[in-house]
Amino acid sequence: MRHLLNGSDLDHAGAVALLDTAESMAQTQSRQIKKLPALRGLTVVNLFFEDSTRTRISFEAAEKRLSADVINFSAKGSSVSKGESLKDTAQTLRAIGADAVVVRHPASGAPHRLASAGWIDTPVINAGDGTHQHPTQALLDAFTLRRHLSAGIGDLAGRHVVIVGDILHSRVARSNVELLTTLGAQVTLVAPPTLLPVGVETWRCAVSYDLDAVIAAGPDAVMMLRVQRERMTSGYFPSEREYARRYGLDALRVAALPEHAIVLHPGPMNRGLEISAEAADSPRCTVVEQVANGVSVRMAVLYTLLAQGEQGMEE
Ligand code: CP
Repeated sequence: MRHLLNGSDLDHAGAVALLDTAESMAQTQSRQIKKLPALRGLTVVNLFFEDSTRTRISFEAAEKRLSADVINFSAKGSSVSKGESLKDTAQTLRAIGADAVVVRHPASGAPHRLASAGWIDTPVINAGDGTHQHPTQALLDAFTLRRHLSAGIGDLAGRHVVIVGDILHSRVARSNVELLTTLGAQVTLVAPPTLLPVGVETWRCAVSYDLDAVIAAGPDAVMMLRVQRERMTSGYFPSEREYARRYGLDALRVAALPEHAIVLHPGPMNRGLEISAEAADSPRCTVVEQVANGVSVRMAVLYTLLAQGEQGMEE
């Protein structure tokens, strides 16, 4: 694996090894070892063409904790606003000597193009592309699930994870279905029919329109997705009240979950729409923990791609 572009880029052994590396990274952080020298002398460029809070900040924290030199590039305020292409931007990165590029882009497939076009010769890490993939989010979700459900070791075999909401526009859902099933979990998607993508029946998961029935089956975790109004044209969406009633997670639905089950959300949350304030603030909700885990997981991704070289990686 030279790049990390999709939730399916890791096989079972590779995914477990990466989560184990993230666990080691988390242990160093909990022992107050703030910096590791692993990426000293290497330059990582964070190339963000779309807004981000969690992913951007945690990649920067991860890079700095591994002693990399960090360059942050935002499309806003750059020559992209003057019409500069992705190719020319990439060649600028090559000229300044980037050793890895972390890219978020509103166009699905942009990181894949960057990785395959030959414009740059460095690992490319997808930090979220359009409605397509968000593999480091899936890894941090898997890491969080593993800690709660499998004592932080091994895989997620036999666990049932429910992903609820705007599947149609969700790169988080796509990457999670791929990665969580690689790790042995059973995944069920729950959404209104208008928020499911064409072809979802070919994904490695079950599909339901009935959240209460799926909760009654006793899942191990429920992952609520943000309703992405900014990506919707008219016709997709029921009224907000109707959506919250049928697909929102409220205190009653949290209480109906098995005692050990956890609630995840990738953030940012629409409180009162896909998740109520009580559910978001409940001790079962791991949203803040997910952000902290994101730093350890992104340290593990950078370390695996940049410091381990070809060891432990498959092409
Ligand atoms: N989960 C996630 O990708 O959040 P940001 O858009 O804030 O990075």
